[in-house]
Amino acid sequence: MLEQLNRIEQTALSMLDQVRDEAGLQQWRVKHLGRSSSLSQVLSKLGQLPKEERPMVGRRANQIRQALESALVEKSEALQQVAIQRSLEAERLDVSMPGRPAHSSRLHPATQTLRKIYQILAEMGFQIYWSREVETDAYNFELLNMPAHHPARDMWDTFHTTTPGVLLRTHTSPGQIHAMREFAPEPIRVILPGMCYRYEQLTARSEIQFNQVEGLAIGKNITFSDLKGTLADFARRMFGQNVRSRFRASHFPFTEPSAEVDIECFVCGGSGCSVCKQTGWLEILGCGMVHPTVLRNGGYDPEKHTGFAFGVGPERITQLRHRIEDIRYFWGNDMRFLEQF
Ligand code: DAH
Repeated sequence: MLEQLNRIEQTALSMLDQVRDEAGLQQWRVKHLGRSSSLSQVLSKLGQLPKEERPMVGRRANQIRQALESALVEKSEALQQVAIQRSLEAERLDVSMPGRPAHSSRLHPATQTLRKIYQILAEMGFQIYWSREVETDAYNFELLNMPAHHPARDMWDTFHTTTPGVLLRTHTSPGQIHAMREFAPEPIRVILPGMCYRYEQLTARSEIQFNQVEGLAIGKNITFSDLKGTLADFARRMFGQNVRSRFRASHFPFTEPSAEVDIECFVCGGSGCSVCKQTGWLEILGCGMVHPTVLRNGGYDPEKHTGFAFGVGPERITQLRHRIEDIRYFWGNDMRFLEQF
C-alpha cells in the first residue's frame, strides 16, 4: 500500500513538471487532487485496510496530499513569473524613441500688440475702461456729433440688430461718452480697448471685425501739445526711441481740431519703399481735441474742461511691426499664420 502511495506521488510530481500553463495546471489539480484522483481513492478505501495498517497509510496519504498541494502552489507561482517575464519581453517599451513635442500655446499677435499698448499707456497713467460691443445709434453716432444723415456716417457700414437703433459698434469712440457720463466733472485718463465691427467687403485692407484702442484724457488746461507729446512718446515707446512721427491735419466729427499721426517708415528709413507706398511715412492713428459738443454730451462744460482723444488699430500696428500684408490673416484661424508669432 505504501509503495502504491509512493508511486502516486512520483507520478503526480513528474507530471506537474511537464505542466506549461494555467489550463494544464487546472487539469493536473483535478486529476491528482480531485475527488476521483488515485489519492482520494486510497483514502476512501482506508476503512477496508487492516486496523494496524490504517494509521500509517493514512498519515502517509495526508503527507502526500500536502506535498502535492504545496507543489501546486509553487508551480502556479512559477508559471505566473514566466507569464510576467514573457509579457515584459513582448511589450518592451523603447524609451530611446524621441517623444512627441509638447504643443505650447501662445498669445494671438493682436493680443500681444494690445498688451504692449496697455503697458505703454499704463506707464503714462491711463487706466483701462471696458465698454460694450453692442451699442445704440445714439452712442455710436449721435452723441459723437454725427446726427442721422451726417456724411461722416458714410465711412461706416454697420451691422444693425433686429432691434431698431441697436448695432454693433463701428469704433471704440462711443465708450468715450460712457466714460465721461460716469466720471464727469472729474478728470479722466482712460483707454478703451476692444472689438469693433463693420459691414464691409473683405479685402487685404479691411476686415469686418478688428480691435481698436481709444484713448481719452479730460481735465482743465489740457492742450493740443499734451496730445502731441503723449502720442509722440507713444510712437517712440512702440516703435523705437529713434522713430520720428508727424501730425497731419485731418477731420473727425468728434474732434476739433483733428489730426492723423504718421511714423517715419522703418523699412526704408523715410526714403520711400513699397511698404510706405513711396511716401516715407506710415499712418498709425487718428486723434484730436474732444469736440465741445461731445464734451457737453458727456456732461462736461467745454468752457471749463478740455480734452484729447485718439484711436489706434492694434492689428494695423501689428501689420507694420511684422510686415503682414493682409489684415484678413488675423481672424482667419490659420495655424500657419498664428504659429509665426
Ligand atoms: N473712431 C475713429 C475710427 O474708427 C478713430 C478715431 C479718430 C478715434 C480720432 C478718436 C479720434 O478718438 O480722436 O476711425
